[in-house]
Amino acid sequence: MAIRRVGVVGCGLMGSGIAQVCAASGFETVVREVKPELVEKGLKGIEKNLARLAEKGAITAAAQGEIRGRLKGTTAIEDLKDCDLIVEAIIENLPAKHELFRALDGLCPASAIFASNTSSLTVTEIAAATKRPQRFVGLHFFNPVPVMKLVEVVRTIATDPAVYEEMVAFGAKLGKTPVRAHDSTGFIVNRLLVPYLLDAIRALEEGVGSIEDIDNSMKLGCGHPMGPLTLLDFVGLDTTYYISQIMFEEFHERRFASPPLLKRMVLAGWNGRKSGRGFYDYSDPANPKAMKY
Ligand code: 3HC
Repeated sequence: MAIRRVGVVGCGLMGSGIAQVCAASGFETVVREVKPELVEKGLKGIEKNLARLAEKGAITAAAQGEIRGRLKGTTAIEDLKDCDLIVEAIIENLPAKHELFRALDGLCPASAIFASNTSSLTVTEIAAATKRPQRFVGLHFFNPVPVMKLVEVVRTIATDPAVYEEMVAFGAKLGKTPVRAHDSTGFIVNRLLVPYLLDAIRALEEGVGSIEDIDNSMKLGCGHPMGPLTLLDFVGLDTTYYISQIMFEEFHERRFASPPLLKRMVLAGWNGRKSGRGFYDYSDPANPKAMKY
């Protein structure tokens, strides 16, 4: 089955990035949000990204217009009924995902493939809300989606091997390198990344080094584009706290346990870059200032 039309549900940070990449790769793309202002905000962000790409000559002005022309925003779930593939990128909340997929299952033809961009929930459990677990996969993208070259393609014990191969090929059509992963909590990247990020917080708590020194160590010593505490602010401390709780519940291993400082920062609302403060203060976003904890 050829994928022509892709539906993306959620037009936040991840959803808008996924929609941009789908449209840029030639797919008719319908992106759905719950409120018109959220649709508008997501599409504006995509338009800004496309304009930047055109300005620096990465795409032509004609391509910029064509990509935008392939994108349609909507609040009506019915507008997704003709999609060959649905990629869900809504809040990481199982009941919310179940409600959405139940509705989509009743709306979309039996041939449509469903995918979730979940980073930590069990894909098998999300798929259980539908009558098509064999046509259900995880497609886990990375932030910022237009830049990061990876997509984890996740198969459950119920995924049809032909559907899975089609999704691996779809990941490649998006210009990403698809990696194959089983439906194990955190898949490959978060299985390795989350304990590393949590250990960076533990190192800070134990006074091993300052925020800048921990970040510089991994940037300059290991060639990472961002130090772990900067990356935590970028991903969101609330998001990391949530993922670590799910991973701890699943594996009961200390390496996935949230350090007390992370919990307290989340309780204080210091969720990182998006809230203006995390391990750094972003009052001047071009010049983040390390905090003292
Ligand atoms: N959207 C689109 N493009 C963006 C962007 C965005 N949000 N942010 C940056 N870019 C582009 C820039 O335009 C620039 O493009 P160019 O090279 O063609 O000019 C390029 O990315 C580099 O950007 P900058 O020069 O502004 O800044 P950096 O060189 O510092 O790169 C970065 C920024 C790509 C974010 C880099 O710091 C990086 O790779 N950081 C690590 C990100 C990472 O690890 N992400 C994964 C997080 S984990 C995750 O998402 C999983 C989840 O489950 C937790």
